[in-house]
Amino acid sequence: MRKRIVAGNWKMNLTLEEGQKLTSEITNMVNDELNEEITVVINPPFPHMQAVKKLIDGSKNIFLGAQNCSDKASGAFTGEVSATILASFGASYVIIGHSERREYFNETNEQLTEKVKLALSNNLTPIFCCGEPLEIREAGTHEAYVTEQLTKALFGFSAEEMQRLVLAYEPIWAIGTGRTASSDQAQEMHAAIRNHFAAKYGDSLAAGLSILYGGSCKPDNAQDLFSKPDVDGGLIGGASLKSRDFVDIIKSF
Ligand code: 13P
Repeated sequence: MRKRIVAGNWKMNLTLEEGQKLTSEITNMVNDELNEEITVVINPPFPHMQAVKKLIDGSKNIFLGAQNCSDKASGAFTGEVSATILASFGASYVIIGHSERREYFNETNEQLTEKVKLALSNNLTPIFCCGEPLEIREAGTHEAYVTEQLTKALFGFSAEEMQRLVLAYEPIWAIGTGRTASSDQAQEMHAAIRNHFAAKYGDSLAAGLSILYGGSCKPDNAQDLFSKPDVDGGLIGGASLKSRDFVDIIKSF
């Protein structure tokens, strides 16, 4: 069975103290309340990562992730953080290709490919994001748009590499808007993504890929979304900043 994963993306929120408090609350609730095998990933801002790592150590379900990594291995790139640096303090996951990075920081498919390569070579699991803007959804060309994003950034990888990725479908019109995709819309796209990978890498590899949904996922819609056969979890923004909401989402399978 493929991994079920709920990842919290804090984005650029929370002071160190607030982040530590939130992490302690999440860790206690997950340890006390979670009976199922679900992978929980916390993706705080870079400066909080070591403190978060200390607080989650000892929890068998909770892992540390980053929100981004550089497309360069090392060197004179002021302000950047490499996959090697992330791995050196215990990160296990890294979000790559979030729509906010693509849109506000002009990240290209070529750069995303480099980031995935560096993440994999440092034994980090990339959580690779894709998703269409509203005008593409309204034009009805969303499947072609998303599969093209995936082809361009990822189809150069071998099957051995590809099976180490996690994917996240985040329709841009649903991020931070309160307007979530319906569970049927999510299922339709997740199935299309899985078929796209099956056509290139075979059914067995595609069946093992965890595909997360992101975009206004909350405790009151998570159960419906996670009940769909091709939705393997969530990438959670706003609701990951509240311990009770985040843990209720984790318990929604
Ligand atoms: P929201 O859950 O706030 O809509 O954000 C989703 C997201 O972008 C997670 O990466």
